Amino acid sequence: MTESEKYKFKTIDEAKDDLIKNRHTFTDPWVKYGPLRVLNHGNGIMKIGDSTRFFEPVWIRMGHKGKITIYPKTFFQRECELIAEEEIVVEEEVRVSWNVLIMDTDIHGIGNNPKENSPVRIKKRAWIGSHARILKGVTIGEAAIIACNSVVTSDIPDYAVAAGIPAKVIKILEPFEGKHGGRFEGKWYNPDFVPIPHPNYYVQELGGVKFDWKEDWNEKREKQ
Ligand SMILES: CC(C)(COP(=O)(O)OP(=O)(O)OC[C@H]1O[C@@H](n2cnc3c(N)ncnc32)[C@H](O)[C@@H]1OP(=O)(O)O)[C@@H](O)C(=O)NCCC(=O)NCCS
Repeated sequence: MTESEKYKFKTIDEAKDDLIKNRHTFTDPWVKYGPLRVLNHGNGIMKIGDSTRFFEPVWIRMGHKGKITIYPKTFFQRECELIAEEEIVVEEEVRVSWNVLIMDTDIHGIGNNPKENSPVRIKKRAWIGSHARILKGVTIGEAAIIACNSVVTSDIPDYAVAAGIPAKVIKILEPFEGKHGGRFEGKWYNPDFVPIPHPNYYVQELGGVKFDWKEDWNEKREKQ
């Protein structure tokens, strides 16, 4: 018997009907809450502090007892994903860049073992670089920086800069007040601030606010 006979492969043309009828599709009941796309598998609870900002979309998955707490004045860039089976806490003034994954679970067990979950905490003023992956059981210290594309598998101390796979401390910063950088942020956390869309994205409405596309983006930003 050939492999093809054994496994009954089909070309996509042959599988066309099955594909169209969604016989090869998984769908999950994602719910859109403004900038969030939320998948709650059970009694997950998410708490959001005042003035937290999400660039759309941010993906939130909560398991049966998953808890997510986002403190005030935190921001998440687009395409971040948080997956909580146990607990994820992101403290105040944390900045999370785009495409960052934070998960307190492996989602699957290894071999026949049950999956492992362990809480994650990102302490205040930390800065998580783009495409970083923060895995179960990790605490990231106050004002620590995680370099882009790092995979964080163990705790990172306060004021550390960590990079690589797995992330290792590459330097320790002098303690300082406030946030890293922070040029526009005072405005972002002002409850009256009207977000301005990036000109390359077509966003007609956000939170009921209509945008004027023809107005120059930078000029408008400067005025706010
Ligand atoms: C974290 C970061 C700001 C640190 O910058 P820095 O202090 O100038 O770091 P350096 O360039 O001095 O790098 C120090 C060492 O770490 C290494 N390193 C830096 N970033 C790294 C990364 N992402 N992965 C692996 N190694 C990295 C460097 O190669 C260097 O190694 P060496 O000493 O062997 O030469 C920067 O690495 C980074 O990740 N920038 C992107 C931030 C981001 O994602 N911004 C998105 C908008 S929020």
